Amino acid sequence: MDADHMQAVAGAVAYLEKLLAGDPRPRVGLTLGTGLGQLAGRIQQPRRVPYRDIPGLPVSTVQSHAGELIFGRLGSCQVAALAGRFHLYEGYTPRQVTMPVRVLAELGVEIFIFCNAAGGLDPAMEPGRVMMIRDHINFTGCNPLTGPNPDQWGERFPDFSQAYDPGLMELARQAAAENQVPLYEGVYVGVPGPSMETPAETAMLRGFGADAVGMSTVLEVIAARHHGRKVLGFSAISNVNRPEAMEPAPLELVIANAQKAGAGLGAVIQGVLQKL
Ligand code: HPA
Repeated sequence: MDADHMQAVAGAVAYLEKLLAGDPRPRVGLTLGTGLGQLAGRIQQPRRVPYRDIPGLPVSTVQSHAGELIFGRLGSCQVAALAGRFHLYEGYTPRQVTMPVRVLAELGVEIFIFCNAAGGLDPAMEPGRVMMIRDHINFTGCNPLTGPNPDQWGERFPDFSQAYDPGLMELARQAAAENQVPLYEGVYVGVPGPSMETPAETAMLRGFGADAVGMSTVLEVIAARHHGRKVLGFSAISNVNRPEAMEPAPLELVIANAQKAGAGLGAVIQGVLQKL
């Protein structure tokens, strides 16, 4: 965590502060995942900022991720939505992956809601449904906090005994019940990808106690918690992997099922925002 990284974050924050000028600051940061871009369409009075305009921010290379920051209102809440994220498998470093989170945290975001598309590991799951992330396993082999600690941002050894906020999870359960959205709860394991899991890896991850597997989110959650922000997380279950009957999960299927889950997930998130 070198001075360059902190300076890059400060530069991006200064650019966005100037752009927002007198506008209200976002309270909630929302990371949309694969197939979940439709949520962005619900944001009122959107002010869209392409990532390429923000100094120091990498440009997203994945086609299914638009690569823009959208400021606006969702329900009664001022939000900043990240449509497009940076993944380790694209070749980005853990710091680059977590830079948007650092920027939004420094801009004053208090709560982060992270969404992703993930493969279900619990054989009882159905694709197209939503899992609230109760806890995670960082199996990426890296950590965005490696290196000198920026004390202004957070502690050297941040606590992770309760990374996902219990109060926010309770609001999500209520919002899901009110909107008749079935909600799984479970453990998300983050892997580097981009190769999908073998049957043996799938059995191993399930044995670890994970309920869903994906290639994002854990590093961002680590950065947000390090920064002292509250976190809520959801996986759109796009495919379900069973070691004894593995099937390919092509990107089109992942996107289609994430979109299917996205409708219910949008209702849950809006419900949570209304209750804040
Ligand atoms: N494995 C890893 N990442 C994923 C999957 C999967 O099965 N589905 C969606 N993202």
